[in-house]
Amino acid sequence: MTKDRTVYHCRDCGAPALRWAGRCATCGEWNTLEQEVAPTAPSRGAGPAVPVSLASLGGDGEPPRSTGIDELDRVLGGGLVDSSVTLVAGEPGTGKSTLLLQLLAGVAASGGRSLLVSAEEAPEQIGRRAARLGLATDGLFVLGETDLGAIRSAMGALRPDVVVVDSIQTIFDPATGAAGSVPSVRACAAALAQDAKCPGGPAVVLVGHVTKDGSIAGPRVLEHLVDTVLSFEGDRHHALRILRAVKHRFGPVGELGMWEMTAGGLVEVPDATALLLADRRPGTPGSVVFAGLDGRQPLLTEVQALVVPAPGGPARRSASGYDQSRLAQLLAVLDRRAGVDLRQHDVYVSAVGGVRLTDPGSDLAVACALVSALTGRSATEDMVVMGEVGLGGELRHAPQTARRLAEAHRLGFRSALVPARSEGGGPTGLTAMGIATLAEAIDVALAAAPVRPPRLRVLGGSALGTG
Ligand code: TYD
Ligand code: MG
Repeated sequence: MTKDRTVYHCRDCGAPALRWAGRCATCGEWNTLEQEVAPTAPSRGAGPAVPVSLASLGGDGEPPRSTGIDELDRVLGGGLVDSSVTLVAGEPGTGKSTLLLQLLAGVAASGGRSLLVSAEEAPEQIGRRAARLGLATDGLFVLGETDLGAIRSAMGALRPDVVVVDSIQTIFDPATGAAGSVPSVRACAAALAQDAKCPGGPAVVLVGHVTKDGSIAGPRVLEHLVDTVLSFEGDRHHALRILRAVKHRFGPVGELGMWEMTAGGLVEVPDATALLLADRRPGTPGSVVFAGLDGRQPLLTEVQALVVPAPGGPARRSASGYDQSRLAQLLAVLDRRAGVDLRQHDVYVSAVGGVRLTDPGSDLAVACALVSALTGRSATEDMVVMGEVGLGGELRHAPQTARRLAEAHRLGFRSALVPARSEGGGPTGLTAMGIATLAEAIDVALAAAPVRPPRLRVLGGSALGTG
């Protein structure tokens, strides 16, 4: 006999809980636990299970199918694998639908049959978008449907090679409750995954919206169900879009794909760093270049800071692209270990171009940018910095120094501040200086005297403190 057991799942991070609580014990979000009735598996009666010999299975299946988009193929390690399930997660407006429409057109152009299940946009709307983007649409089918059963039977009839479901949160199965709830999102994804895994099944790509307020079940509840999770990032107000594989059963993670969102859709960006640094005005106080690493790819990013006196009132701390609590910690370390007191100042930090600095090695760049903004001392123009800042004010090693420095050299930088313990030097023509502490790094990175009297204006304006 099967007995139902009630469990709860966090809508946001997917963590299970045995009883309801106001706050998810795993991710700390409030009001995200949802009830789910999980049938317990029958303990016997399914017949004896027979293990297979691994040697009999062989290692080589079909090669991955190219998506027709080089950057995407690179992230996927060649393309989409038949019968696989891929989740593309990103905030609304990043361009998921655009990218996947381009993918489906690419598959169709190379003779594959592709199906777009659009639960959010009408087929006519998609037709107009495809025409506007100049995509060839032979072999590309669109289904405007939200009902899971109807979608599965259409897939069975059309037998496509690649199916995109946009989005998994808007399709529903009447048996599992409202669209967007944890049980519904999971059940729909599991059913589609089952179809993919059938012999000759399509590669299924699910679109999952990430929402900050957690009002719909986030893609994280699906991560264990799928073979590949691609995270599509980018600020809708900026052009740069970054795609990375955060889970990949068929190849390595760590490759980045980069695009620029243009009026003609997503255009591949072969040299993202050059794009990110294009608007930089060397010598501006508050601007420092961070030699970063995203996954396995070096990525140089300009970090900007602005510091304004805030007499009396509570000081503001605003970070865009850099973790807010990390900023608070860095300000405390600057105060205690380097004698830089910003308690009476509003502080703004921004990673240029909508980039998110998740590499802890970005601490030193943020710290130098803050001190540069406060003092008006600008950073050496052709210098990059890297290093994680410890609570003791020490600089901690940032991995893969040599790759970062090679990228900096390629873009014309001639010196670098690196944590003293870094292994591997810079290429010829770039001087890497090993530094032990934050205080020392600030002294070396920033010119001794203000280049010009600091004038506090919004960075990016025409009169950038140049007077
Ligand atoms: P969209 O692919 O609909 O994003 P998502 O599916 O992730 O929500 O596109 C997002 C934004 O991209 C949209 O607001 C407008 C912009 N955009 C362009 O700038 N150029 C284009 O060619 C297209 C199709 C969209
Ligand atoms: Mg969309």
